[in-house]
Amino acid sequence: MKIIDNLEELEEILDNLRKKNKKIGLIPTMGSIHKGHLSLIENAKKMKCFSITTIFINPTQFDDSKDLKKYPKNKAKDIFNLRATNCDLLYLPKIKNIYPDGLVRDKTVFEFRNILCDKFRPGHFDGVTTVVNILFKLTKPNIAFFGEKDFQQLKIIQTMATNDNLKVKIYPCPSVRLKNGMSYSSRNTQLSLEQKKIFNNIAKEIYHCVALLKKDNDLNILKKLNNRILEIGSTKIDYLEIRDEKKLLITNKKNNARLFIAFYIDEIRIIDNFLLY
Ligand code: PAJ
Repeated sequence: MKIIDNLEELEEILDNLRKKNKKIGLIPTMGSIHKGHLSLIENAKKMKCFSITTIFINPTQFDDSKDLKKYPKNKAKDIFNLRATNCDLLYLPKIKNIYPDGLVRDKTVFEFRNILCDKFRPGHFDGVTTVVNILFKLTKPNIAFFGEKDFQQLKIIQTMATNDNLKVKIYPCPSVRLKNGMSYSSRNTQLSLEQKKIFNNIAKEIYHCVALLKKDNDLNILKKLNNRILEIGSTKIDYLEIRDEKKLLITNKKNNARLFIAFYIDEIRIIDNFLLY
């Protein structure tokens, strides 16, 4: 795996790949690489792409500067894991390559807004679409791989690609989960032993309720789950809702629906979603 951090080298590599008619697969990440990220690279390999993983902790998508400061960083371990998965290229962009004119973010996607994470982290998705759009421009991928774990992010990026007629195909990848049923997340590495216990107990409760909801989409199950999560030790629940996958509207059906959740254990925010069919 080649590791680069400058644009000139990136452009040279991309030129060579294009000459050889190679498909380029982009996997944008913020690092602290885990099995979820690695599955995106494996999907890129399956699609016969030259895989480019980027690690860039994007300041414009953080609504809280404290959260940005403490976002986990594990460069050496990341490189080890990416090598082990045979990623072809790791690009570590410099801030001036991404934001030559300073930290700006644009609102370009108006669909799927004011709900779920957008309601609780205003501006977050503007930062996401801004950086993803810049990464698309720099790497001009044929396919870009995104996880369903961040379902609203995926929908917003798909919408950006369609609205802006981008030539990139957005490839959704299913969530890779821990033994307790929750998705791998870079933020999980921040959990202390005590917080992990709470996390595992909440996971059990969610797992149980998802099984019930698969039989019957009943609001009472959600209400009970909400109370149990708080009893077990979550400090705050941002949302716990069932929405359809197409429009992300609240639904009382199970078909094409998912349970969406965002909750805190102390200052650590955990988001996930679960298929109900
Ligand atoms: P990050 O949280 O590092 O995630 C990078 C990619 O990995 C995203 O597409 C995310 O959905 C996917 N991913 C995370 N956990 C996963 C899991 N358990 N299973 C499968 N896929 C998973 O999402 C971001 O970074 C940023 O917002 C980014 C898109 C890079 C823009 O800065």
